[in-house]
Amino acid sequence: MRRKLVIGNWKMNGSIAKNQLLLEAVIAGVQDLHHVDCVVCVPYPYLGQAQALAQGTKVIWGAQNLCASEDGVLTGGVSPHMLVDYGCQYVIVGHSERRMLSHETDDTAAARFIAAIKAGLTPIFCMGETKEERESDWTDYVVGRQLDSILRRFGPEVLAKAVLAYEPLWAVGTDNPATPEQAQQVHKFIRHRIAKCDAHVAKSVRILYGGSIQPSNAPALFAMHDIDGGLVGRCSLDAQAFVAICAAAN
Ligand code: 13P
Repeated sequence: MRRKLVIGNWKMNGSIAKNQLLLEAVIAGVQDLHHVDCVVCVPYPYLGQAQALAQGTKVIWGAQNLCASEDGVLTGGVSPHMLVDYGCQYVIVGHSERRMLSHETDDTAAARFIAAIKAGLTPIFCMGETKEERESDWTDYVVGRQLDSILRRFGPEVLAKAVLAYEPLWAVGTDNPATPEQAQQVHKFIRHRIAKCDAHVAKSVRILYGGSIQPSNAPALFAMHDIDGGLVGRCSLDAQAFVAICAAAN
């Protein structure tokens, strides 16, 4: 039985004052939800604040990206060990916004993925197709290629230390979520592809859905067999909505 997991991706939002209100409300709201893991992935400057507020609570914190290399000559870089230093357990890798706007490729995402694993962090590895790719029936091809960039390179065992997220680009930041059936179909495809390499890992790895999750659509999405929780963008900035989504997973 896979334990449900809900991760808030705050993206480039927040301020010290706003974060405090948001985190305190989330911490209070989820404290009695015993059957779900709740994570917030915050911008780098607020990792210390997240650590100070969330330590010892049910809320786990993480980052939204990392560099693949260790400390060195890389202006603006944040290394895996820096995230560990701030008590991060999770880090998002290969989000579509980074793949598209920051020229992340399958290769650079794979390098970040393995750097996270080596540092003892749990990467949240994002995959998903564009609207045009879906309309051309390329969803399996694109998601399969993204998955293979990890699976073929590092073998299935590393996935036991990771979380996967299916985030169709046409559903991210829109008001157009995938239907539970559409999402389930891709999640099942991902799990089957892993199962061909390692049935045990396929059964245990958590695959999250992301893209316009709201309190109203979360219960139906989370009821699907291969959907193990959510990666939540906008609604993670609203404590009431985020707690309601965590409660739906609980
Ligand atoms: P929204 O929930 O705002 O659509 O964002 C999803 C996402 O990108 C989470 O990583």
